[in-house]
Amino acid sequence: MTERHQTALQAVRDALENEHDARRAMDLTVNLLARHLPDYTWTGIYLLEGNELCLGPFVGKPSPHTRIPLGRGICGAAAAEKTTIIVDDVNADPRYLACSIETKSEIVVPIMLDGNVLGELDIDSDRAAAFGADDRELLEQVAALLAPTLAASRA
Ligand code: SME
Repeated sequence: MTERHQTALQAVRDALENEHDARRAMDLTVNLLARHLPDYTWTGIYLLEGNELCLGPFVGKPSPHTRIPLGRGICGAAAAEKTTIIVDDVNADPRYLACSIETKSEIVVPIMLDGNVLGELDIDSDRAAAFGADDRELLEQVAALLAPTLAASRA
């Protein structure tokens, strides 16, 4: 990972260390990611409720997609397939649900515990092909840090 990515990861790790409130943990996470990574134009978290992804904390313009059924959009695909999805050109992907006309690329990373999807990190960029292996590594580690707190808040 680049130094910038490593700094972002450490900042999230430090912030979540003693934060057991799920809402505050998610707020801190999206704010720290957006602050450290300039390409992260829209940084948000969706939470899985039944068969729908419900928009939680985010940094960026309001999204029209506050509830996304599993399997719909890039968000729904990542949750259904339980895998990270990177889209270099959102306008070339038929699954894409538009949030802002400026968005060019997107990464969605499921937040999972014991193989169960709890939610996901969704990041949009105004730059095409903005997301690569460093972002995947960073965000998968951040998802793993968030998962226990999100799981505990549902119990
Ligand atoms: N683009 C997403 C929808 C959510 S907005 O980006 C915030 C998708 O295709 O699922």
